[in-house]
Amino acid sequence: MPGRFITFEGGEGAGKSTQIAQLKKRLEASGHTIVVTREPGGSPGAEKIREMLLSGAVQDLGPRGEAMLFAAARADHVDHTIRPALERGDWVICDRYADSTRVYQGEAGVDPNYLLMLEAAAVAGVRPELTILIDIPVEVGLNRVRKRSKAEGGVPPDRFEGEALGIHQRRRSLFLDLAKAEPHRVSVIDGRKPQDEVTEAVWQTVRTHFPEDFSEVQAENEDLEQLQPENSGKAHHDGA
Ligand SMILES: Nc1ncnc2c1ncn2[C@@H]1O[C@H](COP(=O)(O)OP(=O)(O)OP(=O)(O)O)[C@@H](O)[C@H]1O
Ligand SMILES: [Mg+2]
Repeated sequence: MPGRFITFEGGEGAGKSTQIAQLKKRLEASGHTIVVTREPGGSPGAEKIREMLLSGAVQDLGPRGEAMLFAAARADHVDHTIRPALERGDWVICDRYADSTRVYQGEAGVDPNYLLMLEAAAVAGVRPELTILIDIPVEVGLNRVRKRSKAEGGVPPDRFEGEALGIHQRRRSLFLDLAKAEPHRVSVIDGRKPQDEVTEAVWQTVRTHFPEDFSEVQAENEDLEQLQPENSGKAHHDGA
């Protein structure tokens, strides 16, 4: 498919939504067409399932049943939003995707093989080329979420935000395990830094991952290739 697919992952309050908005602006300024979407949800059918999942209305299903609902939502999202956009050649940026299921339902005790099976069925081959994992200590992220809900007039935490600290901590380390297992796809970015520094780090990661989509990056690389022998010779000569 001609489009590009990037996902953002990380714990509550890591800065995913903030950074996605910034990346969208920068990509648009570079002349790309961007579709921003999120999970669970991202298509009319999946948004209905999102309500059920985040309100806790279907918590009685247990983690295995919930995982099936996440998969059902994802299948709808892929079919109605993500794949059509990629086929048009757009860039799709998704706020959480399959890695969140691996981590959240995995932490809840669902067999990883079962999760991978559901994942394969749901994504039907539509997998991100790049995943940005914004990593942050859980207390910092949760504090941000608390501040944000105050600013929004006291929105109560959703089913996942309201869980015990230890659970959030295990999720953080599962996310980091995923990054270690798939280093070519998953880039870890330190979310504690000020917002614009995180934005810059995300931007560098995206440009490096897709050099052919940024003519200036390609040109820089070509320049470097041409300059390298001369540079190293000069450095030698100068004794630097
Ligand atoms: N680098 C940062 N430093 C300080 N505050 C930040 C930073 N990035 C985001 N914030 C603030 O922290 C809050 C959470 O950020 P954001 O909503 O982007 O996180 P999120 O990862 O999307 O959270 P959620 O998991 O709840 O969707 C927001 O109020 C945002 O303005
Ligand atoms: Mg968010």
